[in-house]
Amino acid sequence: MIQKGVCVYPGSFDPVTNGHLDLIERATQVFPRVIVAVLNNPGKQGFFPVEERVRLLAKACAHLPKVEIDSFQGLLVDYMKKVNAGIVIRGLRAVTDFESEFLMAQVNHQISPEIETLFMMTSPQFAYISSSVVREIGGFGGEIASFVPGSILEDISTALKKAR
Ligand code: PNS
Repeated sequence: MIQKGVCVYPGSFDPVTNGHLDLIERATQVFPRVIVAVLNNPGKQGFFPVEERVRLLAKACAHLPKVEIDSFQGLLVDYMKKVNAGIVIRGLRAVTDFESEFLMAQVNHQISPEIETLFMMTSPQFAYISSSVVREIGGFGGEIASFVPGSILEDISTALKKAR
């Protein structure tokens, strides 16, 4: 039975940012259980290996007992059914996010109407942050301390510096 109280926050999290963490923390104020699920897409490798993204998320969310970190392959709605979760949450930073998010929510609704997608507005102080901005700035040796959680700043900076 799909549990409406259980929510999944899916994404690439390559790597997790302060914007993601803000949304995860706020989701724990609304839902009793929050599963953060990293897409493992064999067709799109990304910068951080999926296992490392999961490890970074777990470290950044260590203070949040309601949060579980996982990864998934394939369709999000299939994963939702596997973990019996009824709600997908996604963050909206700006109008530019809307079109793709709207499309994704509608596709997911079409194939699995029992699953709801809910959107949370990114807190304004994080609206400009994205994983790609973190990779770009950090990759050129720039300061990313205000972009990523302090607990994983060293891990991310070191990995980005190594790749330079
Ligand atoms: O952080 P991202 O890259 O914006 O996350 C996108 C994600 C992982 C939520 C989305 O690509 C996804 O759910 N992929 C799984 C495949 C799927 O279910 N596709 C159908 C919806 S269009």
